[in-house]
Amino acid sequence: MATALITGASSGIGLALAKVFAKNGHDVILVARSEDKLQALKAELSKAHGIQATVFSHDLTERSAPQALFDQVQQNGLTVDVLVNNAGYGDYGEFAEGDWSKLEGMILLNMLATTHLSRLFLPAMIQRGSGQVLNVSSTAAFQPGPMMAVYFATKAYVLSFSEAIAAETSDQGINVTVLCPGPTQSDFIDTANMRQAALLNKSAEDKLPTADDVAQFGYDALQSGQVVAVHGLANKLMTFSTRLAPRSLIRKGVKQFMASE
Ligand SMILES: NC(=O)c1ccc[n+]([C@@H]2O[C@H](COP(=O)([O-])OP(=O)(O)OC[C@H]3O[C@@H](n4cnc5c(N)ncnc54)[C@H](OP(=O)(O)O)[C@@H]3O)[C@@H](O)[C@H]2O)c1
Repeated sequence: MATALITGASSGIGLALAKVFAKNGHDVILVARSEDKLQALKAELSKAHGIQATVFSHDLTERSAPQALFDQVQQNGLTVDVLVNNAGYGDYGEFAEGDWSKLEGMILLNMLATTHLSRLFLPAMIQRGSGQVLNVSSTAAFQPGPMMAVYFATKAYVLSFSEAIAAETSDQGINVTVLCPGPTQSDFIDTANMRQAALLNKSAEDKLPTADDVAQFGYDALQSGQVVAVHGLANKLMTFSTRLAPRSLIRKGVKQFMASE
């Protein structure tokens, strides 16, 4: 039975991905800080699907956490067939007024942990000649993001990094998919403090796609070998249009879209 390690499995898209992998017969390794939520999910998934679920609680903003997690996986005799780098957060507001510890943590989580975990788990996949990596980026990756400057930049990194390792490993039996959701129902909006953004007021939150929809889409994209997977038609059109429009226009448009109401 294949095993999927999922970061940020305690809520939102990560939790929904854990459910999809378990439903499809994968054992799961659940990672996040909230051990109580992960233990509850472990009980739910093993009961519902008869799979083995393992919980490793980590704060992935700690530089030593990816190595510690990798060591735990080895010590427990587990093999990671699918690595899902999903844990991440954003922060809304002017960059020059941002809380540095929150911005630094975002860089460490969204970029460094994703990169380090990929570096740790990929070699064994390459050696086995099979493996899958699902990195969660965002439609934010496709343009600069005034009012969420660091978040958009971290997601642009995840997109670029994922595409590059997809190209490097495609003839080694490895499948890398980068999932790019648009705004999605989850705790992300509150964690990022972004209810004031014009972008959200225009589209009522309950009309946004659910984390379950996005997770199923990401799972299907990974299984079909798609490298860049943008969720939803409107998001696909938006990310395509950013390739055609002048960057000055894009900056202006995104600034208006992201302004506080
Ligand atoms: N929702 C959206 O609109 C949207 C759109 C595009 C992309 N995304 C991306 O989707 C991914 C998942 O976000 P979500 O929407 O599901 O948000 P969410 O509901 O807030 O979930 C975030 C997950 O990340 C974990 N996490 C946060 N900080 C962590 C840390 N320091 N160490 C370990 N785990 C940590 C959280 O668990 P703990 O708090 O228990 O640690 C939680 O499980 C993120 O990468 C986000 O950028 C979201």
